[in-house]
Amino acid sequence: MEQRKPLFIANWKMNKLSKEVVAFVPIFYEAIQSVSQKCEIVLAPVAVYLSKLIEATRSTSIQVAAQNCGGAKSGAFTGEISPVMLKELGVNWVILGHSERRHVFKEDEALVSARLKAAIEEGLLPVFCVGEKLEERKSGQTFAVIERQLKGLKELSENHLKALTIAYEPVWAIGTGENATSAQAQEVHAFIRQWLSKNISSPFANGTRILYGGSVKADNSSQLMAMEDVDGLLVGGASLDPLSFGEIVKKGLNS
Ligand code: PGA
Repeated sequence: MEQRKPLFIANWKMNKLSKEVVAFVPIFYEAIQSVSQKCEIVLAPVAVYLSKLIEATRSTSIQVAAQNCGGAKSGAFTGEISPVMLKELGVNWVILGHSERRHVFKEDEALVSARLKAAIEEGLLPVFCVGEKLEERKSGQTFAVIERQLKGLKELSENHLKALTIAYEPVWAIGTGENATSAQAQEVHAFIRQWLSKNISSPFANGTRILYGGSVKADNSSQLMAMEDVDGLLVGGASLDPLSFGEIVKKGLNS
């Protein structure tokens, strides 16, 4: 099996002012110094502080992600930020299809797919989020929902898809304090990998990282990372504090 380097992403959502963004870096980097070669780390601030964070992380191995991007290079799309602009700033990663984008801001499959295609075409590394709502899980539709959300990937070439990371984030686990158990996460991650193998290719499925997100904390990161198909973590609330996120990374790697 191809090596999948552990990947930890902090999704700060609409939090942290510029001073806090900058202050986070040295404290966090010192905390993870001993393990920084064993994994990849990506921080996702709000768009207006991307430049600040790029500057603050310049002499570190920490990478930077946008929390969304537009689905075209330029044009009449008020409020959107194009992937070309992100690349120009020096941003390499972008989170797409996050549950809050899908459910609070009503981004549908077609819109998320357009964003994904545009991001990949500009050379960004997308973290494509999927996940079911509580009622969907309760009514046994988890796999059907995930399958529907993954379907758009079939329209992209395997060469384009090389840039992709997938994040499984059950909607009921995001910001609720109730994480999926490691067994629940593993079950869906294995399903996603099988789907990738069947619909894209087996080497692609084996080489693609699948992250878990949803109420990840320092006391569950090791159990989640111990699962065969969990290759990293996408962390919201518990990534806001540099020492807490540092613990998540270190405990996750010790598994
Ligand atoms: P949470 O958020 O860790 O606060 O549950 C995860 C996410 O939304 O990416």
